[in-house]
Amino acid sequence: MQMQPKVGIESISVHVPRYFVDLKTLAAANDVDPGKYYHGLGVRRMAVVAPDEDPVTMAVEAARALIERNKLDGGRIGLLVVGTESGVDGAKPIAAYVHGLVGLSGECRTFDAKHACYSGTAALRMAADWCAVHGTQHRNKALVIATDIARYDEGSAGEPTQGAGAVAMLVGDEPHVLELDLRNEAVFSREVMDFWRPNYRSSAMVDGKTSISSYLSALKNTYLTHRAASGFGWDDYEYLLFHVPFPKMAYKAFRVLCGLERNDNADDQFDLRSGPALWANRELGNIYSGSLYLSLAGLLEKGGRKVEGARIGLFSYGSGCCAEFFTGRLGTDSKNWADKIGIGAGLDRRTELTYEQYLAFRKNGNALACDGSYTGDPQGAAFGRLRKVFYCGIRDHRRMYFVNDNVAQVARNSGIETRSRRSSVAV
Ligand code: CAA
Repeated sequence: MQMQPKVGIESISVHVPRYFVDLKTLAAANDVDPGKYYHGLGVRRMAVVAPDEDPVTMAVEAARALIERNKLDGGRIGLLVVGTESGVDGAKPIAAYVHGLVGLSGECRTFDAKHACYSGTAALRMAADWCAVHGTQHRNKALVIATDIARYDEGSAGEPTQGAGAVAMLVGDEPHVLELDLRNEAVFSREVMDFWRPNYRSSAMVDGKTSISSYLSALKNTYLTHRAASGFGWDDYEYLLFHVPFPKMAYKAFRVLCGLERNDNADDQFDLRSGPALWANRELGNIYSGSLYLSLAGLLEKGGRKVEGARIGLFSYGSGCCAEFFTGRLGTDSKNWADKIGIGAGLDRRTELTYEQYLAFRKNGNALACDGSYTGDPQGAAFGRLRKVFYCGIRDHRRMYFVNDNVAQVARNSGIETRSRRSSVAV
């Protein structure tokens, strides 16, 4: 029998946006008991993007951090796939902007994948298959990025499940983070109108209850298919990770699996097998395509040696819908995880918004950046210097990005229209 090549995630990095709203603040404004958001949904804070951040800048920051922290040779990347629900253009993919702003080789296939929150997994699985085929070539690494801003109407039931962020993953034949089991996959698709965002809207539409039941029925379907095909059973997984639109959803999902496995110890088991992966999701909120991978990154960043070598089961769900249950084994490189993933450091640097500031960002964010009037706040300025890429609105129908000089050089070489950030501009 032919040996399966080793393929999976070699390194992972998370970009945390620079502002947040505490869900107690939102609850007070919406005249809702904060217990509903904190305990009923399991969210504490939701990440909010600054007017000069967008899905492109978040993706670039995550990718840049991944490359710099791990001293990666960008020349080895032959595939760049961005999974996103928050596309910024009907034709031009976010991947094209990222390719130029990060400065990757021209010999690189670039495109976006779209299927709501499943798009990050679609990108990862396609990249893993691509890596398996390109195993021995020089340019055999893939960069997969999941980047999204989760946005619902003001005052709606979905509003407390908003969030934003990006996760970048290097995929290749040295899976120090997660070796994927490529043989066993269980996928499920069915057309359903549970969550969607028409092109003319910046906020998603959702039928919340339908979305939850569709998620859970896709979970049952894929878990049972995977169990029958793979022979892996309940006891084979040390951790079970889920797509996390809000942390309570992971608990609902875990309980469904306990029901299928006739395990009546759901709460204790959840605390052991899924709870440790949810702390970052509580802080950032839903990041759509990256939510499952934010859980993975959270498990690694705090798990240390305890999680080394663990077999994990992962469930990805994208409304619309497409879902997948798949498995992998964590690497044994935990000393490198804690300081390279970047969630804790990103959380330490962010600034809390009042409800009024949050509303102003919502309403005027892009307009402020477009006319150049956004100058940030003092704390933002300190954080801003650590960032390299800034969205600055649309001119002549083109998205404009300010970039720091060294990045600008790369971008100019790639033909991307940019303007260098003057040091006198405060952000
Ligand atoms: N203290 C503690 N708990 C409280 C409470 C209080 N004071 N008040 C209410 N709760 C509990 C409720 O009992 C309920 O718990 P259970 O789910 O265990 O029954 C929970 O808080 C939520 O209350 P409601 O069901 O009344 O909440 P809602 O209907 O107003 O909104 C929601 C919930 C439908 C999930 C809404 O937030 C929403 O539409 N979110 C967006 C859609 C979504 O995230 N769907 C998930 C599946 S789809 C998917 O995963 C793709 C994706 O990313 C979008």
